[in-house]
Amino acid sequence: MKGLKGKVALVTGAAGGMGRQICKRLVEEGCSVAMLDIDAKRLESLAAEFGKIDQVCHVAVDISDYDAVCRAVAGVEKAIGPIDILINNAGWDKFSNFLDTDEVLRQKVVSINLNGPINMFHAVLAGMAQRDGGRVVTIASDAGRVGSSGQAVYSACKGGVIALTKTLARELARRNILLNAVCPGPTDTAMLQDFMNQGPGGQKVHDAMKRAIPLKRLGQPEDIPGIVAFLASDDASFITGQVISVSGGLTMHG
Ligand SMILES: NC(=O)c1ccc[n+]([C@@H]2O[C@H](COP(=O)([O-])OP(=O)(O)OC[C@H]3O[C@@H](n4cnc5c(N)ncnc54)[C@H](O)[C@@H]3O)[C@@H](O)[C@H]2O)c1
Repeated sequence: MKGLKGKVALVTGAAGGMGRQICKRLVEEGCSVAMLDIDAKRLESLAAEFGKIDQVCHVAVDISDYDAVCRAVAGVEKAIGPIDILINNAGWDKFSNFLDTDEVLRQKVVSINLNGPINMFHAVLAGMAQRDGGRVVTIASDAGRVGSSGQAVYSACKGGVIALTKTLARELARRNILLNAVCPGPTDTAMLQDFMNQGPGGQKVHDAMKRAIPLKRLGQPEDIPGIVAFLASDDASFITGQVISVSGGLTMHG
């Protein structure tokens, strides 16, 4: 992809299924990559896979904690330079019918999936605005476009980050900051596996999802980095405020 070599990227949820593949792709494209995740152990093992290269650094941080996020962003910029590209990828959910959820679960889902990206936007965009340039790709979800049974609050958060992306794309276009959202459909990562492990109901929904996808398979984490790298590259320098599904055709938006 054009223009990625030498850029500094920060990826949240780096130790997860999609995050790991996104980090690998950005390193292959010649970016320096800061890998952030709440799971310090899996982050260490990802860092070990890269070996001792100056091009990557990692920070264990909870994106729902704004002060910790600001400290992490400052540390990253000191270590590998000002951030050119932010990939908001961290996310979490526990499948449950809305009426069966409790306040603790609902707050946790909002803290991670909505407040987390808000914290990241706020901590990173100020520097990009000062430097008059930047790219943000936020991993939302088709749940935020069309809804998803068992994911009411999560869907609301993902719809929220899509609206945030569009609003910030409008506000920050004059600063040459481009923001877009990618919406995976059902993708074979720990998040989906947790759901399937919830019993026979989970397996049934999983099989039904697969049948409903025109390309007749679930997404794989490797399906995501291509569109992320494209949207972060100079090939996408006239694209902002857009939402793109990567779902094997499960959802088709005009
Ligand atoms: N897997 C799917 O079917 C699917 C579908 C649509 C959208 N998504 C979205 O894709 C993104 C990546 O998810 P994935 O499928 O790779 O799941 P995953 O569980 O493999 O990875 C998510 C990562 O986010 C990290 N994380 C969770 N809470 C955090 C916090 N508070 N601070 C920092 N890091 C935190 C986790 O430790 C994990 O490494 C998420 O935003 C998710 O909502 C996933």
